[in-house]
Amino acid sequence: MDIHTTSSSLPLDNLTGEATRHSSVYVGLGFCVLLALWHYFDVSGHDPREPPIVKPSIPLIGHFVGFYRYGVSYMDRMRHHTSWPAYTLSVMGHKTYVVTTPGLSHAALKSKSMSMEPLIAYVAPKMLGLSKDAGHHFGIDHTGFYNGSPALRERREEFGHALAPGPGVNLPGQMCSDVVAEAVNAFDAEWATRDFYQWLRDVITLGTANGLYGPRSPVALDKSIIEDIWTFDENQLRLSWGFLPNLIAPTGVRTLNKISKAFEQFFQSGNESFASDAVKLGITTARKMDVSIEDYSRIEVFNVSVATVNTVPTAVAMIQNILANSNLLQALRKELESVLTVKETPDGRQAELDIGRAETECPLLHACYQEALRIGSTPTCNRAVLEDVVLTDPDTGREVLFKKGWRVSIPTFLLHNRDTFWGGDAETFGPEKFLPGGIATDSKGKVKTQGFVPYGGGAHLCPGRHLAKMEILASGALVIMALDCEAENGFVTQNYALNAGAKKPIGLDNVKMRRRPGWEDVEWKVKI
Ligand SMILES: *[C@@H]1O[C@H](CO)[C@@H](O)[C@H](O)[C@H]1NC(C)=O
Ligand SMILES: *[C@@H]1O[C@H](CO)[C@@H](O)[C@H](O)[C@H]1NC(C)=O
Repeated sequence: MDIHTTSSSLPLDNLTGEATRHSSVYVGLGFCVLLALWHYFDVSGHDPREPPIVKPSIPLIGHFVGFYRYGVSYMDRMRHHTSWPAYTLSVMGHKTYVVTTPGLSHAALKSKSMSMEPLIAYVAPKMLGLSKDAGHHFGIDHTGFYNGSPALRERREEFGHALAPGPGVNLPGQMCSDVVAEAVNAFDAEWATRDFYQWLRDVITLGTANGLYGPRSPVALDKSIIEDIWTFDENQLRLSWGFLPNLIAPTGVRTLNKISKAFEQFFQSGNESFASDAVKLGITTARKMDVSIEDYSRIEVFNVSVATVNTVPTAVAMIQNILANSNLLQALRKELESVLTVKETPDGRQAELDIGRAETECPLLHACYQEALRIGSTPTCNRAVLEDVVLTDPDTGREVLFKKGWRVSIPTFLLHNRDTFWGGDAETFGPEKFLPGGIATDSKGKVKTQGFVPYGGGAHLCPGRHLAKMEILASGALVIMALDCEAENGFVTQNYALNAGAKKPIGLDNVKMRRRPGWEDVEWKVKI
């Protein structure tokens, strides 16, 4: 359950955004400023071995203004105030350590002294409006405190095993690919105009929901839930404050209630018997732990949103950047022919793409997927420090102290854009980085994991990563092989990580799409 949404990076960026809209928050903000004032003069508790505190340019409220103006990239701006591999943001008496180099990030993600679990345990029940009884599912004990229980880790491992390479992931992968194939088959020889981002977003959202929850998923039964999932995601942060949600996040509350009701009906109807093993296993465990149907239906709202909102930007990034480069597009079409089988059937011609084989037999496609992850999947990994710990930055040898109780933030868009790390070519989309001999590979041709953490890292590695990969490869291959696409002003290459936080890409509003000439009559299929 790694929280991967770019929107849930730091509470600060949206908090300030809210303040301009809700006057009630002004009062709260005034209070915060007082707290900040008090803290500004009280940094006595800061150990010299902790990352240095960077002071905002405008005293007291500078960090708020900074996050408001620059979003997550404010963390990049502040990095230049120190030569350390990390710095401290001190706001309202709370410290957040921002880790900024590949080496130290790697150490932090691997550290057993840091964990995301307390953050989830405290935030998720508030955000989802769960009953008190559901607390123990997250390791919250009867006193309301996180007791370091392994409950969350066990849940995640269970989910991860159920979606490991093999039948566990192939079935949902197939189900999702079928939805994409159907959407591609709906085009014909005539140009049709689509908002490409929204088209792919909706297709992948439905595909992922069907993959996890089966062909009778709540989304399949009511397509308006697709939009709701995205609206819920946009409102997650406000919901997570757990403060007067009906007033502060009414849209969030409305979508959460609507989607969770649909899940409740789904679980009551018996239609869950068509769901993936991963979901069935999770629900069985939740029931064993006496979590009520209302509560686990609410948890599924979070699960389905995490599963979709991170896959879509990567898939769009990959396809958009391929379409912007006709040489690359031609090379991929050629490469994909090796996994394409065309056969005549009584119902007409069928073209089947073997995505299971493409993973190994189409290195260029696979490299495009990895490059798309680099620019399109840049989660901000948040951790709580469980006990004082000193980590060493391997590049500078500097020892850095992280103190118990504070928060660590690893903004991976920083790592994915580090010019020094990516050989001066961090800005552009270039799959060759991930091909053997490329800058992202070591002497054995294996991809270096430091500085490339699209799925988070350490114990919190995203359990759905194999499914996401299958979905992205399948939708990429289908669009490339089956369709001709033309953007109004040509496709532009775009690096999402550069303006971190912006999810909606540019130049895709009016894209003309049709079947590739010569392939008008085939039915496209995917084999996993
Ligand atoms: C279960 O699925 C069937 C077939 O899609 C559908 O007609 C029915 O309404 C579903 N039941 C519920 C309660 O969602
Ligand atoms: C939600 O996702 C987690 C993994 O992140 C999984 O363990 C759990 O079973 C899923 N469903 C529920 C109701 O908890």
